[in-house]
Amino acid sequence: MNERVNVASHAAPAPLRAPLPIPYGMLAELTHRCPLMCPYCSNPVELDRRNAELDTATWLRVFEEAAKLGVLQVHLSGGEPTARRDLEEMIRHCVKVGLYTNLITAGVGVTPERLQAISDAGIDHVQLSFQGATPEVTDHVSNFKGAHERKLAVAREVRRLGLPLTINSVVHRANIHQIPDFLELALSLGARRIEIAHAQYYGWALRNRGALMPTREQVFKALDVVEEARVRLKGVLTIDAVVPDYYAKYPKACMNGWGRQSLNVTPSGKVLPCHAAEMIPSLDFWNVREHSLAEIWQASPAFNAFRGTDWMPDLCRSCERKEIDWGGCRCQAMAIAGDAAATDPACHKSPLHAHLLALAEADAAADVAEYDYRRFSTPDRAQ
Ligand code: SF4
Ligand code: FES
Repeated sequence: MNERVNVASHAAPAPLRAPLPIPYGMLAELTHRCPLMCPYCSNPVELDRRNAELDTATWLRVFEEAAKLGVLQVHLSGGEPTARRDLEEMIRHCVKVGLYTNLITAGVGVTPERLQAISDAGIDHVQLSFQGATPEVTDHVSNFKGAHERKLAVAREVRRLGLPLTINSVVHRANIHQIPDFLELALSLGARRIEIAHAQYYGWALRNRGALMPTREQVFKALDVVEEARVRLKGVLTIDAVVPDYYAKYPKACMNGWGRQSLNVTPSGKVLPCHAAEMIPSLDFWNVREHSLAEIWQASPAFNAFRGTDWMPDLCRSCERKEIDWGGCRCQAMAIAGDAAATDPACHKSPLHAHLLALAEADAAADVAEYDYRRFSTPDRAQ
């Protein structure tokens, strides 16, 4: 287990002390461009413009370096990854270097011909997002008329091509009651897996917390529905759930620990320990334009800032759960405590736990009706 830490200085890497874990997954955010406008968008508040995106050759090198580093799975994501015309070339290269490829798409604007080309390139798996289980909810949350119908068509085409399909659903106040419908939708489309992730309140979603936050009753009911379905659908549909921790006693083990299992490359080449890490202003993210992926994984200040347990405040360092939840989520600590190295306020031992709970309850009660939609409304959006 790696225990290396370098919180005090983000300026220079510390010497290596222990063998590092191997990252088995890499999220490749190929672009931030996206036709949808989800109010909980997990991309950073400052989006990378098209002219800042990595070129094809650099991405191919990054995939090769990832495979050498030990990465097994690459998640081709965005924004909307199919906005990159070189997607098929990237998939072919990933296949060549031995990576399992997973396409994470919103499905809107993906034609049957494009899906055929993606399939021919060798994609292993497709994850398709649904913002709701019905057209009204999907179209409203994504602010895209007709999105739901287009997604249904893409799902059917994915299955017709014989590709395995996972349905992604982010749940919040407007659709948390639809979990049974999401499950039915996944089954009817021939998916073998569904991800039910509660909205996480960082970045853009933080702006919409008052419109998204469910009540405690809704959250606990949703947990019961998922547990019952897991038993009932065992062997038929795998249900992966990301539970909300603001009403819980303990925080989630975010990323399964910082810098332990995965890395995230942004459209412009920055490498992050988690997709939301750019909200932590003190971190220095190295870029694949200047460093190899292995150098970044091993020595970049951002990856070493919260690795292991030495960086933890006393409360966590002396806790028996420190290698279970790894101190929770650094981005949540930043968002609520204003200090990424604080104990996650979702933990009941945190002095800010009552404050987090009060925020959640106030937001759920506020019942804000309007979303502040995510917009990539610049001249390069439609390119
Ligand atoms: Fe996790 Fe820290 Fe809370 Fe212990 S004190 S449960 S390590 S967040
Ligand atoms: Fe960044 Fe949890 S979302 S550490």
